[in-house]
Amino acid sequence: MNIHRVGILTGGGDAPGLNAVIRAFVKRAVGQLRWQVIGIEDSFDGLLERPFRIREMTPQSCAGLLARGGTVLGTTNKGDPFDYKSRGDVSRQLVAAIAELGLEGLVVIGGDGTQKIGLRLMRDHGIPVVGVPKTIDNDLSATDYTFGFQSAVDVATEALDRLHTTAESHDRVLILEVMGRDAGHIALHAGIAGGADAIVIPEIPYDIDKLCAKIDARRARNRFFTLMIVAEGATPIAGQRRSRVAQHEKGTVRVGGPGPQIAEALAARRDVDVRVTVLGHLQRGGSPIPFDRVLSTRFGVAAVDLVQEGRWGEIAVLKNGSVVGVPIEEATETYRLVDPDGELVRTAKAVGVVFGD
Ligand code: F6P
Repeated sequence: MNIHRVGILTGGGDAPGLNAVIRAFVKRAVGQLRWQVIGIEDSFDGLLERPFRIREMTPQSCAGLLARGGTVLGTTNKGDPFDYKSRGDVSRQLVAAIAELGLEGLVVIGGDGTQKIGLRLMRDHGIPVVGVPKTIDNDLSATDYTFGFQSAVDVATEALDRLHTTAESHDRVLILEVMGRDAGHIALHAGIAGGADAIVIPEIPYDIDKLCAKIDARRARNRFFTLMIVAEGATPIAGQRRSRVAQHEKGTVRVGGPGPQIAEALAARRDVDVRVTVLGHLQRGGSPIPFDRVLSTRFGVAAVDLVQEGRWGEIAVLKNGSVVGVPIEEATETYRLVDPDGELVRTAKAVGVVFGD
């Protein structure tokens, strides 16, 4: 029997289901196969500080994690060891830490950025890495779904349902701004599920006049309220005003998302009472829905299989309903954006939803 000693970490923004992946990995690897699993705190940071911030993971320490949101290991999206805070490239320090701890490899649960770091560690320094994909945005083309996405859609749909009743009572235009910096999957799915009248996504630049026309058309049918869902990366067609992003000393801060901008533009063109709800991190926090718990569990177990089979450099993905391993490189090559001519957009349009195009 091969005894493995591996490190596990979570990187980038959190997503509901991260803890369920950790739990599944540990239950299989430690509980059944008797490996040693070392949890590394705050992505790679836990190995770049002295004393190391690590902990041995056991099935007992993972009790209660299936339904718990966030990540018990902590995470950061500012911990790239190749460009580490003010210290530059500290990847060699990371390699030394991995050797010192006797880790045979790393299991990296993270999004595009974190997976690319894992890949570079493998390429530049020969560190064996297995990946598990994570993003609530569902924009990784290699996997049919990432865990956390359906949970986010669930939260956004409930928000739309709640906004629906108050919009109707007050004859208002209510705008829900959801996450999706580059891809509009959350807005598209929740928009269809929540019966939005307009869905505004980064992949389809919007013309504010087309959104006004939707309000007019509804009013002509004695529907005096309108419900819109807007992804945070939505942009207007050329010539109309864009999102404002401010650079601050410690990072980038979005000071005016598309929700408030669309609201302002609508109010300037029509006699409407408009309100904006920015859903923000409510979409990322909290318990994963059952679909994501199942997917996370499958990914966690699949990651053990990949390590056991020595398939380093691969990442667990869901392909046509089955969880399989594919090269991390291939999985991080392209984003999956919403296809503006795809079936889902056509379906939404067929039931009267406008996209502003
Ligand atoms: O990358 C996932 C994501 O949900 C994006 O859609 C969103 O822009 C971002 O996270 C927000 O992250 P932060 O927690 O850094 O504000």
